[in-house]
Amino acid sequence: MMRLFVAIELPESVRVRLAMLAGGIPGARWVPAENMHLTVRFIGEVDEASVHDVDAALQSVEAPAFELTLEGIGHFGPPRAARSLYVGVARNPALAHLRDKIESALVRAGFEPEGRKFSPHITLARLRNARGSRITAFIAGNNLFREGPIAVEGFTLFSSFRGHNGAIHTPERFYPLAPVGAEVETDMPPASPDDGD
Ligand code: 2AM
Repeated sequence: MMRLFVAIELPESVRVRLAMLAGGIPGARWVPAENMHLTVRFIGEVDEASVHDVDAALQSVEAPAFELTLEGIGHFGPPRAARSLYVGVARNPALAHLRDKIESALVRAGFEPEGRKFSPHITLARLRNARGSRITAFIAGNNLFREGPIAVEGFTLFSSFRGHNGAIHTPERFYPLAPVGAEVETDMPPASPDDGD
């Protein structure tokens, strides 16, 4: 079995900047820079034979390249018992479109629909019994965080293993998006050669 997920990789400079936010919350387990990514679709445990189906489904996805901007800090779980802290993503219809295309390709290939709403985020830390006041102070102190625009030229299938010192994510395959300006499947008729501009 392999544990798989689809994510957008972030440039190293961005990951380093995100990792520099770490600190100030005793008990937080901060995600190291090399493990930071924007999960687009968590797939979970898949048997070896199905990995090929995942790959074929992802290869069939056609969507244009786009840009994204990271913005603000949020948390999952109730304010006084937050489970994780994350950096948010500014509203991004192109990202939502990509996620929908990936979701429908996987469902067409026979995988269970994900079912839960897509909340794009980059996890900064996992929390257990962290003091609410520390979390509030961290959010207040970093809420103006903004980074971007970041060019997204493709997405990546990752495998994930639990190592002794936390998860180890390995990029298995990169799927390029259509360069901006290139023809992507649309409802528009193709331009005729004498459209001339
Ligand atoms: P997280 O950052 O919000 O924890 C690899 O583990 C990636 O898959 C992480 O980015 C993680 O999201 C996500 N992930 C792990 N388990 C998941 C689950 N059960 N459902 C959805 N996403 C999950």
